[in-house]
Amino acid sequence: MGLGAEWHVVREAYRKITRVYERANMLATLGNVDRWRREAIALFYSLNGKAALKVLDAGAGPGNMARHIKGVRYVVALDATPEMLYVNDVADDKVVGVFEYMPFRDGSFDLLVAGYSLHAAMDLERAVAEFSRVAAFQCVVSIGKPTNRLMRRLLLMYTKYVLPRLVCLAAPKEICSEYKKIYIIVSALPPNSKLKEIISRYAVLITFRERGFGSIYIYLSRSPNSF
Ligand SMILES: C[S@@+](CC[C@H](N)C(=O)[O-])C[C@H]1O[C@@H](n2cnc3c(N)ncnc32)[C@H](O)[C@@H]1O
Repeated sequence: MGLGAEWHVVREAYRKITRVYERANMLATLGNVDRWRREAIALFYSLNGKAALKVLDAGAGPGNMARHIKGVRYVVALDATPEMLYVNDVADDKVVGVFEYMPFRDGSFDLLVAGYSLHAAMDLERAVAEFSRVAAFQCVVSIGKPTNRLMRRLLLMYTKYVLPRLVCLAAPKEICSEYKKIYIIVSALPPNSKLKEIISRYAVLITFRERGFGSIYIYLSRSPNSF
């Protein structure tokens, strides 16, 4: 489950949208994009206080997720798109790589954060398994697929017909047309209820919340090997 062969089509989009990225996200989420990142990170802090952290930002892009991590921390940004990593000014180290085959030893990190990136996995199950293998805690916010059938149809219609036009308000035409690929992403996703089952195969799910009528999920989990 995941994008499979379509992954390369979607990755090409990430290369092109770097310049308008956060502006377009603001429009696409009706202003909530960063609020949901902060909500995800707050879940971890509510559990662990402000511990010194070795953090992996998975699908880090420009670093918008790790930016919210406070206190003493060492951040490694992992991303499949070098163009995205190039504009990342948050990470201490940057690694080009994919979720499905992470170049890190088991338990290398205290915390993995993933902002709006897990939905783009080639193989969702393998990505979730790797997240749990390399980090004690996983804190994720991503595009989901509502379990409710009506909401699912509405989200598919939104991503197909409304979203690309909305993003055109903030981006040149050749770039905003890349946002049509979110429809491909959402079509390939499992419903959120199924995703919870997948996560629970590899990690202990602590909190799983839906936002935007199920179009976004936020979760905190921990590796079964951590205590
Ligand atoms: C929408 S950006 C998110 C950036 C940032 N985390 C944020 O919160 O805005 C998604 C990023 O995930 C990366 N990505 C997608 N699939 C990936 C995979 N399988 N392995 C590694 N990176 C991936 C893309 O290259 C892209 O830079």
